[in-house]
Amino acid sequence: MKVLVIGSGAREHALCRSLSLDPAVTALHCAPGNAGIAEAAELHPVDALDGAAVAGLARELGADLVVVGPEAPLVAGVADAVREAGIPCFGPSKEAALLEGSKAFAKDVMAGAGVPTARSYVCTTEAEVDEALDAFGAPYVVKDDGLAAGKGVVVTSDIEQAKEHARGCGRVVIEEFLDGPEVSLFAVTDGEAVVPLRPAQDFKRALDGDEGPNTGGMGAYSPLPWADPKLVDEVLDTVLRPTVDELRRRGTPFAGLLYAGLAITSRGVRVIEFNARFGDPETQVVLARLETPLAGVLLAAANGTLADLPPLRWSDDAAVTVVIASHNYPDTPRTGDPIVGLDAVAAHDAPHAYVLHAGTKREGDAVVSAGGRVLSVTATGADLTQARERAYTAVSRISLDGSQHRTDIAERAAE
Ligand code: AMP
Ligand code: GLY
Repeated sequence: MKVLVIGSGAREHALCRSLSLDPAVTALHCAPGNAGIAEAAELHPVDALDGAAVAGLARELGADLVVVGPEAPLVAGVADAVREAGIPCFGPSKEAALLEGSKAFAKDVMAGAGVPTARSYVCTTEAEVDEALDAFGAPYVVKDDGLAAGKGVVVTSDIEQAKEHARGCGRVVIEEFLDGPEVSLFAVTDGEAVVPLRPAQDFKRALDGDEGPNTGGMGAYSPLPWADPKLVDEVLDTVLRPTVDELRRRGTPFAGLLYAGLAITSRGVRVIEFNARFGDPETQVVLARLETPLAGVLLAAANGTLADLPPLRWSDDAAVTVVIASHNYPDTPRTGDPIVGLDAVAAHDAPHAYVLHAGTKREGDAVVSAGGRVLSVTATGADLTQARERAYTAVSRISLDGSQHRTDIAERAAE
């Protein structure tokens, strides 16, 4: 099977790594990719947001499957363009991807499906914003309606900051604050059958102890030793299946990866958000534990044959990933700094620990930083303690001037 992956982050590197380990995959391509993905796949300098260009590349390569990684191409209709060219594509249609592309749409789908989520108001004027903030009280949760690369949400007890964020957004969703630990649960779906993956937890704040600004994600781990073993079945029944059924009923079936961001509150599970693609960095740890070859799973979702797939097989190992980010991430990340130590990780820590690249590119013989999140250092182990040790050992071998990483990924869970 010839596979083309679209995107250029650590999630796409994780996808390419798993696909490269799948004996059914005979050729692996990625557009546009990064310096790390270049070692697993052949790169093509095609704009991920250009549906015609992606479909053209897939046709030229004779791809049997295209996997669209990030949300922006999905919301732009890239999966539709690939399917119109007659090529199976893993990733929802433009219309179904609105589940991530518009928080207001997601709320409407959840209301229709009876899915538990925070109570919310969609506001377009300052007066509506003031009224909604007043109705819920602090802490305030203010969300830009559209895509914002993980930076559209402000949670604050400062009313002025809440109002200021709302003013900068245009259409905004204001909602009830949800208390409790967060869980990311992914499901692969063909629009009908729904296959949940293993839950993971992501660390969204920049600094240790969950301090600092929200980011795209600074690390993740799986499994969650503290979670109720029935959680996955409960979320499948109350969240994932009803949402997939509702979108099919509306005539916009969702096929691809449905990502439920959940809060485990004292009153039960609530959806914080949906995403229409694999999460980053959770994918790095979830795929590290998946033993079933990946390509067949994604192809079955693309072809509508997921119900025929045998149950997924999982490793009992734990997995931890630690993100190394640029100086000044998430504000104005500095790029162009050389990354040293990648060979040392490959020499000393493989196969249990390995480096997945996010924002990197090759400059001559050097690999340099090219984005806010630069690397996602991933490790497996018999338990979270061992996986953490291995991940942080590998992190310590890498130097990148001015870089930052959290030192407490999976620390509490490991205890
Ligand atoms: P989102 O982009 O919707 O995932 O929001 C980013 C982060 O903001 C989430 O991972 C939560 O940590 C936080 N957040 C979003 N909505 C809420 C809420 N209703 N209550 C508490 N925290 C929230
Ligand atoms: N891990 C958060 C996200 O992918 O949106």
